[in-house]
Amino acid sequence: MYRTHTCGELRISHKKQEVTLSGWIQRLRKLGGMTFIDLRDRYGITQLVVDEKAADDLKEKVSKLGREFVIQTTGIVLERESKNNKIPTGEIEIDIKSITVLNKAETPPFTIQTDTDGGDELRMKYRYLDLRREVVRDNLVLRSKMAIIIRNYLDSLDFIETETPVLMKSTPEGARDFVVPSRMNPGEFYALPQSPQVFKQLLMVAGFDKYYQIVKCFRDEDLRADRQPEFTQIDCEMSFVEQEDVLATFEGLARHLFKEVKGIDPGIFPRIPYAEAMDKYGSDKPDTRFDMLFNDITEIAKGKEFSIFNNSEYIVAICAKGASEYSRKQLDALTNYVKRPQIGAKGLVYVKYNTDGTFKSSIDKFYDQNDFENWAKQCNANAGDLLLILSGNKFETQEQMCQLRLEMGRQLELIDKNQFNPLWVTDFPLLEWDDETQRYYAMHHPFTAPKPEDIELLESNPGQVRANAYDLVINGVEIGGGSVRIFDSALQSKMFKLLGFTEEQANAQFGFLMNAFKYGAPPHAGIAFGFDRLVSLFAGLDSIRDVIAFPKNNTGRDVMNDAPSQISEEQLKELFLKIALPQKQS
Ligand code: AMO
Repeated sequence: MYRTHTCGELRISHKKQEVTLSGWIQRLRKLGGMTFIDLRDRYGITQLVVDEKAADDLKEKVSKLGREFVIQTTGIVLERESKNNKIPTGEIEIDIKSITVLNKAETPPFTIQTDTDGGDELRMKYRYLDLRREVVRDNLVLRSKMAIIIRNYLDSLDFIETETPVLMKSTPEGARDFVVPSRMNPGEFYALPQSPQVFKQLLMVAGFDKYYQIVKCFRDEDLRADRQPEFTQIDCEMSFVEQEDVLATFEGLARHLFKEVKGIDPGIFPRIPYAEAMDKYGSDKPDTRFDMLFNDITEIAKGKEFSIFNNSEYIVAICAKGASEYSRKQLDALTNYVKRPQIGAKGLVYVKYNTDGTFKSSIDKFYDQNDFENWAKQCNANAGDLLLILSGNKFETQEQMCQLRLEMGRQLELIDKNQFNPLWVTDFPLLEWDDETQRYYAMHHPFTAPKPEDIELLESNPGQVRANAYDLVINGVEIGGGSVRIFDSALQSKMFKLLGFTEEQANAQFGFLMNAFKYGAPPHAGIAFGFDRLVSLFAGLDSIRDVIAFPKNNTGRDVMNDAPSQISEEQLKELFLKIALPQKQS
């Protein structure tokens, strides 16, 4: 028997008992003739002591121990003289009688404790050591708990968990596919699922009624803090439902999670149509923990000598409360912030509403105090506030101002990390126009149903058609998205046509789905939550990497096992593949 107890278990009530523990040595300290060892396992840390008067062979063994050695030890539980109330086992220590080294360890490349000295890359390379740290492991324990709560909740509502293929045909979710060559079908490839979208719809045709799956999805897209090439969805689909039923069910799930995991009730989730979210926050995933709403001043700011505004489609202002004292340096820093290539604004206009009621602006030359007063009124600004203004093409300017608003929220400390503001964004446009390829793309995916009242616009004004599509947004993060589906094969064909598929292309890619729809497809709708995002939000983390046991870095590499890597000539031959890399530029 390796242990009678874990390292997190012993309390004062175990005093005088003989116990055996196993674990890793986190720390060794010598104090006078005594040696103290912090022994760690998944459950906690227990202090071991080797007394001055201990047998020589035991002292000899202890002198050869090092950090991260795996040991087994037997001893007697004693009450500590100086107690440590920071850890649950802090009232006791083990006076050890024997020690067995189960495995030696090389000195680890970084300290394995909460405040580690290891940088990001190093910790990723030795992820199995990083995972020994309590703070990292706790995130994965939370993940496991949340998965169980979700399963139990959906099971109680009669959802059936069904696995769908990982080797499949490409599904359009807007990203590139990861592909897998088929040895048995030379020249042909599987795609890894960007989502199980088509399969879950086929399960509805099959009469499953309520499906869910906690499932890996794969997308070959640019990576960010909230994006990994492989990530996990809580994927769901329901039959004989309308949008309202899906929102009610999954608001229920989200609220249940808030209650079980965080002990809070966020109340009924507000709903905001896409168009309103864009007008007020310049984003379809607004962070509503603070206001600082957009004010469209296009009409009132045009018509003077300032050609930049006159030539702009859209002029938008935000009001930063109490920030009129911002220094020149701070304003320059803000200007540089919006001019960074990631944001891409050409410049930033400010209007200070001084505490004495006068205005000072970067464009004083073109406007007088009355103009500024007018703008201030439109923005509900008071003396002491600062107006920040961007202008240009509407969509881009909205995106830029969205970033500036968030930055001002951070600078003015308006964002409470412990507050959770969930909301539904509804009525997304069905299609988005791409200038480069001169065609429409499905904003969500091609199976999303238009709002019935907008169907007549499909031919005449496709860009205006709204979809029965919705996103769950929490604190500015898109946690989930879904839609009511098209279940009529004629409407589905029409959609494919609008999206630029020829009949042959649509048949080649989705013939099986359209065929299935000929055999009695029920009305259906669904949603998928990003599980990694949900867990990292609940854990209060900024990156989803921290809630994934073995994540990839920003270039999609697993730095621990060095994937992706080349494969052998034989493997390539077997797959009938030839690699043609572009010549490296010298
Ligand atoms: P969607 O594409 O919106 O919808 O994806 C659903 C949710 O998955 C999460 N997500 C990601 N998380 C981490 N890394 C990524 N690369 C990544 N991409 C997406 C987001 C997102 O809201 N089939 C549809 C759902 C449906 O219509 O039912 C779909 O996949 O949190």
